[in-house]
Amino acid sequence: MTDTPFPKSAANRAIALIKGEHRTLARMLGAIHMLVARYQHAGYEQNFDLFDAMLRYIENVPNKLHHPKEDKVLFPPFMRFAASDKQLVAELEHDHARGESRLGSMRRAYDAVRAGVTNGPAVLSAATQEFVGFYMNHMRREELQLLPLAVARFTNEEWQRVESAFGDNTDPLFGAELADDYRLLYQCIIELAPATLKSYLEGAVIT
Ligand SMILES: [Fe+2]
Ligand SMILES: [Fe+2]
Repeated sequence: MTDTPFPKSAANRAIALIKGEHRTLARMLGAIHMLVARYQHAGYEQNFDLFDAMLRYIENVPNKLHHPKEDKVLFPPFMRFAASDKQLVAELEHDHARGESRLGSMRRAYDAVRAGVTNGPAVLSAATQEFVGFYMNHMRREELQLLPLAVARFTNEEWQRVESAFGDNTDPLFGAELADDYRLLYQCIIELAPATLKSYLEGAVIT
């Protein structure tokens, strides 16, 4: 590892890739939030195939594709930085770990809606709102707090590793074989979505 200044382009490309993945996840979270809001209206037809596919996407893509790259490549260089920087990474890692239990609440609420439980839609709405707020805040902290620190301190080699990990999703260490499956799932969700959600989802960058 050297302390040579990194070429701006390597950092910029890596950051654009990370933000691109965040944008895609944010679109899916926004779409699931809008769909659940519609469930609150009496008479609105509940499209379980669509919701099921969306839930499967947010249950899998962060944990299997996005977080492993952050945990293995983006976070480790921070271990040689100040204690406050390590604390930020520890909190972000903690978010990755607790996301699963929060998704579990959403999954249980969804199962209750499918089973026809009277207050199911209200419970699902609350669980969805809670998860979307939690995850959007997590991504916001990565973009506004973590990435600026990385820009100030990462070496060229570190940025190259980040760019390579987030690059084309062909590295088997980071679920290359899964990336295609989830691109297809995203397309399938677009096909199932009503017109307004379709155009919203189509605005996302799929990496
Ligand atoms: Fe993260
Ligand atoms: Fe992230």
